[in-house]
Amino acid sequence: MKKVILTGDRPTGRLHVGHYVGSLSERVKLQNSGNYDEIYIMIADAQALTDNAEHPEKVRQNIIQVALDYLACGIDPDKSTIFIQSMVPELTELTFYYMNLVTVARVQRNPTVKSEIQQRNFEASIPVGFFCYPISQAADITAFRATAVPVGEDQLPMLEQCKEIVHKFNTVYGETLTEPEIVLPSNKACLRLPGIDGKAKMSKSLGNCIYLSDEADEVKKKVMSMFTDPNHLRVQDPGNVDGNPVFIYLDAFCKPEYFPEFLPDYQNLDELKDHYKRGGLGDVKVKKFLNNVLQAELGPIRERRKMWEQRIPDVYDILREGSKVAEAKAAETLKDVKASMRINYFDDDNLIH
Ligand code: TRP
Repeated sequence: MKKVILTGDRPTGRLHVGHYVGSLSERVKLQNSGNYDEIYIMIADAQALTDNAEHPEKVRQNIIQVALDYLACGIDPDKSTIFIQSMVPELTELTFYYMNLVTVARVQRNPTVKSEIQQRNFEASIPVGFFCYPISQAADITAFRATAVPVGEDQLPMLEQCKEIVHKFNTVYGETLTEPEIVLPSNKACLRLPGIDGKAKMSKSLGNCIYLSDEADEVKKKVMSMFTDPNHLRVQDPGNVDGNPVFIYLDAFCKPEYFPEFLPDYQNLDELKDHYKRGGLGDVKVKKFLNNVLQAELGPIRERRKMWEQRIPDVYDILREGSKVAEAKAAETLKDVKASMRINYFDDDNLIH
């Protein structure tokens, strides 16, 4: 069986370091591993519209921002097909058939949908399209016969629902669809990076993000203002590293070589943490180190982004070509799906009478 990756993001804003450690860096690793036959990276504009129906311009403008972020992180258009979801209408048709295989109660139980409904104050009036987006996501995944879906941890319920749809379809209509596996980052600190304010999640609406496109001085300002252990008032006080965003970011980003380079008094992160826990290590020193680490990690990404910003017409070409390739692949799957359902009426005269 071919090894295929399909993944994507809603274009509702620029991507941030939470996206990077949670999924983008993993995708680049998988891309460069040479272990995959096909890789599709989708800009999920249609899904973004399910809760932005009144702001299509926001979605439209962010398509190019997300494409730039992908290219900046090292998604290579020669190895990966980057495309726009709504340019592949086959996905909508697949969704329509899959909708019959899922109950309303099942969608209501999806924990990610549940919490998003709360966040958006949709309780009293959920748009039907929003409610159905997990089903459309199953269409995205299966249309490409994805075997691996590298995404953030919050997408786990979507993958579970997708697998159920695959089983149901294959049981009712015969073996047709491929079952996908989620790929999560192995580093626990990367699963859900908190915001710089210490809130559980980095999110645009909370205004607590460090963006991949932030300039060096913005990154520094944000790091120096980060929430730490609120009880670590004086340098000599013992501090807490658990749940302390500065240390969580270090867990996510720090590499051994950064110690000799930026903080040679310590051998490794454990030593730094021990000192903080004992007392006698100030937040400013740790933040300065984190800033150096982040600058080292984000600098090359920022530079590559700037380079692509100078080549916007090329980015459009990448998206246009990618969307064509993606549509051809999705059309093949749709054809198989319709054949399995025996609704490919004009392929076989016996199917109608
Ligand atoms: N739900 C994803 C997000 O919120 C975007 C997405 C849409 C996606 N379709 C997908 C991710 C299919 C993986 C596979 O960013």
